[in-house]
Amino acid sequence: MNRLKIAVTKGRLLEDSLDLFEKMGMDCSEVRSDTRKLILPVRNYPLDVVLSKAADVLTYVSHGVCDLGIVGKDTIMEHGGSFYELRDLGYGKCRFALAVPEGSDFYGTYRDRVVASKYPNVTKAWFAGKGMDVSVIKIEGSVELAPLVGLSNGIVDIVQTGTTLKENGLVPIETVAPVSARLIANTASMKLYQSLIFDFLDKIEEVTG
Ligand code: PRP
Repeated sequence: MNRLKIAVTKGRLLEDSLDLFEKMGMDCSEVRSDTRKLILPVRNYPLDVVLSKAADVLTYVSHGVCDLGIVGKDTIMEHGGSFYELRDLGYGKCRFALAVPEGSDFYGTYRDRVVASKYPNVTKAWFAGKGMDVSVIKIEGSVELAPLVGLSNGIVDIVQTGTTLKENGLVPIETVAPVSARLIANTASMKLYQSLIFDFLDKIEEVTG
């Protein structure tokens, strides 16, 4: 019997994804077991969970080595790829925001502005959409550091509770885009395993409405 492979983003989205699968009646005990294994079977449903980093979820699904994927809209917006975006799963909710040091006037100057972000494509596209010429610097780690050390005038980053910004003296001044977890599918898998994928979607529909 055919089994579907689903790449699931490790970290924050994994826990919510496993809660969803369990609501759908799946036995995720093997996935939850404390193991270093990266491909784990759901026991009572033809599904194997592939634990991946967010951007790799897009790569595996685009290349068809995984049929489905669960990944944040932030990663989809930044990297794109060749796949269907099937559904907003409604969890992992946060937003992309432009944040600046408290008290600074980001828009009140004609001088060149520099914005740091882990998401340079999203940031460039958003400022281009506003007709603004802004220099964007890619940062790999904690982007909140960039304005603190004087590298940038602001940042575009994920904001969930707002605690990280607040603790670093930054304030969000504009929402760039809302973000949540998305279910994506390989385009060929949608044809090859249509009934399996539709059954999976029906089960999601049943428990999320
Ligand atoms: C994200 C983001 C912020 C933080 C915001 O990082 O880059 O640092 O979460 O959350 P808050 O508004 O609730 O404080 P994450 O923890 O996902 O780690 P990352 O640096 O690996 O992206």
